[in-house]
Amino acid sequence: MDAVWLTPWYPSPMADGGYDVADYRGIDPRFGTLADADALLAEAHALGLRVVVDLVANHTSEQHPWFRAALAAGPGSPERERYFFRDGRADGEEPPNDWVSAFGGPAWTRVREADGRPGQWYLHLFAPEQPDLDWTHPGVGDDFDAILRFWLDRGIDGIRVDAAPAMAKVPGLPDAGHGPGASFESRTWVGNPHWDVEEVHDILRRWRRIGDSYDGDRVFVTEAVVNGPERLSRYVRPDEMHTSFNFDYLTCPWDAARLRSVIDASLAALAPVGAPATWVLSSHDETRHATRFGRADTSATTGAGAPADPGPADPALGLRRARAAALLTLALPGSAYVYQGEELGLPEVEDLPEELLQDPTWERSGHTVRGRDGCRVPLPWEGDRPPFGFTAPGVAPWLPQPAGWGPLTVAAQRADPGSTLNLYRSALRLRRRVTATAGNDLEWLDAGDGVLAFQRGRSFRCLVNLTASSRPLAGWGEVLLASAPCDDLLPPDTAVWVAAPG
Ligand code: GLC
Repeated sequence: MDAVWLTPWYPSPMADGGYDVADYRGIDPRFGTLADADALLAEAHALGLRVVVDLVANHTSEQHPWFRAALAAGPGSPERERYFFRDGRADGEEPPNDWVSAFGGPAWTRVREADGRPGQWYLHLFAPEQPDLDWTHPGVGDDFDAILRFWLDRGIDGIRVDAAPAMAKVPGLPDAGHGPGASFESRTWVGNPHWDVEEVHDILRRWRRIGDSYDGDRVFVTEAVVNGPERLSRYVRPDEMHTSFNFDYLTCPWDAARLRSVIDASLAALAPVGAPATWVLSSHDETRHATRFGRADTSATTGAGAPADPGPADPALGLRRARAAALLTLALPGSAYVYQGEELGLPEVEDLPEELLQDPTWERSGHTVRGRDGCRVPLPWEGDRPPFGFTAPGVAPWLPQPAGWGPLTVAAQRADPGSTLNLYRSALRLRRRVTATAGNDLEWLDAGDGVLAFQRGRSFRCLVNLTASSRPLAGWGEVLLASAPCDDLLPPDTAVWVAAPG
């Protein structure tokens, strides 16, 4: 089954790329109308594609009527109970606790009350424009049930649950013990009072019950950046989400032993709960892997904890590895996510002018971390100059495309048999035919240190050479697809799919 996942398309002030929703039942006019959304659903379904939409339920936009009403109604009002409004410590001057925001700085902002004086504080684990909802308030759950039904009734096939581990907080909002200047370290936190708290699973179960009450297949995907595969497997228990993004794979450096251990750990942790594995190399939140793999440090490092200067990237090396990584990813058992533009081999745009940066991380880090805009530059479709068919000529997209992207357009790559686009197309076609019938098993084969080799089913094999020297290919089988030209040798940073002999 193939699906398109759309990041939030709802009306939004765009303080965080649409993850600040002002109306959960509409479409932002910049993207179209509800009628356009219906047309998109119908067209996708006619093409055999499912559609997954983003459900952002940890927080709303500060422009949402619920939050506007809470601000206006004042301290102690029922309207404020939908969110986390608290009095500050130290006579109101200090935040109510030590929690930190994912985008840097404290997770609390103080409001001005109706009389113009500084008043209560409200919680936002993300930007101040994204106040957290209090999911212990019964109205919140009821409203989201209705929102989920609204979209399921329109024909969506699934949801991607944004920031799932944030949705429940330990009662009383105790300090987390974060020291001064602490950053958001969700991948290492254990027992944190605002992340991966048990009650999150009640919310996921509630949504799953609604999804299951509809005819046909649904896929519910969770975004859960938590401490390792075992914690992650809890999000995909049989009565919760169907699958979850695999951040351990996404952030893994280009290193054979590390990749193999992440693949094994992912499969091992998911087996007991019966959930399929997922594999992802890039997203709207991470440095594009064609750039990351060309750096000295090949692990993913975006976010508030990212280094201000990740170091230079070798674009040719990065792309070569990105192509090999695509064949590795698409050969693994389970589902694979392709982030728009990776099929074109797009690099991170690292030189966006500072005044155009939109990611809240840029402001919140005091202009030290540029944030995620570099992976969100609109796709080049055709032509030899911006906007490359993305918008009408003369209409500037929200982020400028590099002038030199002409050879990377879809049109240019369609015409080139060796292009990254054609590599992805061939791989997806073959994957459907070969790996779809290979079951979930994966058997590692010995091809020497630094070479990943495995077989699935009776004859499908994938080999990836992560060493600096060529390795013999003879005897491994007939090459079906290669990420770079190879004869009887598998060159460095190259992957092949082969059909085992016999
Ligand atoms: C998720 C989204 C990210 C967003 C954040 C807050 O991590 O992927 O883009 O900034 O949630 O909603």
